[in-house]
Amino acid sequence: MTIASAPPHSDVDLFSDEVLLDPYPVYARLREMGAAVRLDALDRVWALTRYDHIRAADGDWQTFSSDASVGLNEVINARLVGSILGSDPPWHDKLRAVLMAQLSPRSIRRITDYVEEAADRLVDSLVERGRFDAVPDLATVLPLTVVFDLIGLPESGRGNMIRWADAMFTIFGPLNDRTRAGVQIIPEMYEWLGTLQAEDLRPGSMGRSIFDVAGEQGFDHHQCVKLLATYVTAGMDTTINAISNAVALFAEHPDQWDAVRADPGLIPSAFNEVLRYESPVLAFARRVTRDVVIDGVEVPGGDQVVLLFGSGNRDERHYPDPDRFDVRRNPVDHLSFGYGIHTCAGQALARIEGHAILRALSERIRRFHTGEPKRHLNNVVRGLESLPVEIET
Ligand code: HEM
Repeated sequence: MTIASAPPHSDVDLFSDEVLLDPYPVYARLREMGAAVRLDALDRVWALTRYDHIRAADGDWQTFSSDASVGLNEVINARLVGSILGSDPPWHDKLRAVLMAQLSPRSIRRITDYVEEAADRLVDSLVERGRFDAVPDLATVLPLTVVFDLIGLPESGRGNMIRWADAMFTIFGPLNDRTRAGVQIIPEMYEWLGTLQAEDLRPGSMGRSIFDVAGEQGFDHHQCVKLLATYVTAGMDTTINAISNAVALFAEHPDQWDAVRADPGLIPSAFNEVLRYESPVLAFARRVTRDVVIDGVEVPGGDQVVLLFGSGNRDERHYPDPDRFDVRRNPVDHLSFGYGIHTCAGQALARIEGHAILRALSERIRRFHTGEPKRHLNNVVRGLESLPVEIET
């Protein structure tokens, strides 16, 4: 393989307001430049832009390590040491086994009825109102309720959880103003979680199970709190954004909504397409453990790469006509849940929530008419702050 003498590089700031407001044209330009593009705005950081290369990197943890490397600043990387997201095997696998005992598709299936009923109740109440804000009134309600109930957390943290989860995600970015603001907020969450003992979590809940196995797994209280923090925050903004993005997309594409209403069997495919089209997590980083050649470009060992899931999902080399929203596409291989050993541990739960909401909405609502959406800017998760909706039933 020939190695390019001058690797492609760009001075774009992927974490600036302008890019976060509309990242797709920038991603398209970066994809054209190469599969690996050095980012001049950051120190020894490359963007991985194309589907195949992102997936290959995410599937090779020995070369693309997560160990204190998933964030783009030292504060978050130091905090993530020993966490499920920020570690490699064998420690990662031990933590993951504890969460997967509760989050595997088989374990999670038993809560399907509970989630379906919660979605029905929620959508019934909104239909009665006729107008609502799809972010706080719809998208936020189900994930917050489900995650709190399943983890068995005491109510005292509920009011702050969305703010904490938002901060937890944004601090994966480089040390910009958003990250700095997030860093101020995070200690509040750990302070609250740190006060929790096993008996504060509902018996039989997912949260309690972490403490139940702590002795045999050799976890101290601090490690239990770290796992709890991942449980709570990982399932929050991600699922909330997926649901609000779905409403925005179906308001914009009424023909696609008609297709889902006419054939509810399309719901799983439609949810995959929502996730592909608007990746709730735009990017996470890794550190290369040795010099590695990506698409003819040498990335030196020790540098970081940003896996641009949001760009891979729009890669024309993998998805024909990628900027078209098509509920029949069923892109089961999208990158929105990542890939490899860190692939989203909560995806079965996210799908149950997403499918339940789409089903409940499609059974009752013929059209969404939306007002001006307000985008919420976060360094790594992409979603809305507000989406006024008027419905036709
Ligand atoms: C639509 C909703 C969701 C999206 C888009 C999403 C996305 C992601 C992504 C991109 C990763 C990293 C994957 C990688 O690096 O390869 C991840 C990891 C993770 N997610 Fe999710 N997630 C969602 C919902 C949830 C839910 C509901 C939970 C649990 C309550 C959850 C728990 C986790 C955990 C524990 C990890 C870390 C896994 C590991 O490092 O082994 N997620 N998720």
